[in-house]
Amino acid sequence: MARFLIVGNLKMNPLSREEVSQYLSVLQREMSGKKFEHAAGVLCPPALYLNEFSELPQGIAKGAQNVFWEKSGAYTGELSPVMLKNDGVEYVIVGHSERRQYGNEDDRIVREKAHAVLKALMVPIVCVGETGEERAQGETDRVLEHQVQAVFEGLSKLQAEKIILAYEPRWAIGTDTLPTTNEILQVKVLIRKLLAEMFDSQAAERVRVLYGGSVKSSFLGAVSWEAGMDGVLVGRESLFPYEIVKMLALFEEQALSLEA
Ligand code: PGA
Repeated sequence: MARFLIVGNLKMNPLSREEVSQYLSVLQREMSGKKFEHAAGVLCPPALYLNEFSELPQGIAKGAQNVFWEKSGAYTGELSPVMLKNDGVEYVIVGHSERRQYGNEDDRIVREKAHAVLKALMVPIVCVGETGEERAQGETDRVLEHQVQAVFEGLSKLQAEKIILAYEPRWAIGTDTLPTTNEILQVKVLIRKLLAEMFDSQAAERVRVLYGGSVKSSFLGAVSWEAGMDGVLVGRESLFPYEIVKMLALFEEQALSLEA
């Protein structure tokens, strides 16, 4: 598995198949001749376009933005984890703050979904993070504790190690405001501590933690490797294939410099 992961969440974009095909051809062009060993990408388009994202350049995997927890049946409008798996999806974003906000997803639903994704042999990328109000009230740690424990409850150590967490402070999403490197680092320490308590320190080390919220290539260091993160979850900037490829290159460079 590559050292760093860059996950692009396209959210509710683009608006037509024509734009999708433009996006993908720019991506192919930007990636041509490039090979990254220590940095891997995941692109999560709207479900409608998953098929178009089947021929991604090497080193970039296909992800989904949401999933339902049941395998099949009378669930109008939902997508089964098995359907996603059969369609070549490898990663699924679960519990994104926009789903928590507009889809009323609570910690119980997020857990059900994350566990269903594991069961279908895909990797859940579970988003956690506090609101601006919770932060102002000094409740960040308590909120994160709750969200993290809820997701990992009932899992074996082996299953737990497969989950990827994305720390996304809700006040930082879509705003161009960022936490400090130190604040992100503190969250990383808290997550490690919680996982070590629930499982053991080895599992706590193995769970990968990404940072998300207003990520741009220009400050990757401050929100990622300097803060001990294993990569990033990118919203708006992932609409530019050039940025995604630039981030892959920067992470690769960083991984090589760590090795040297
Ligand atoms: P943003 O979104 O990069 O546009 O802030 C991040 C996210 O919602 O995952």
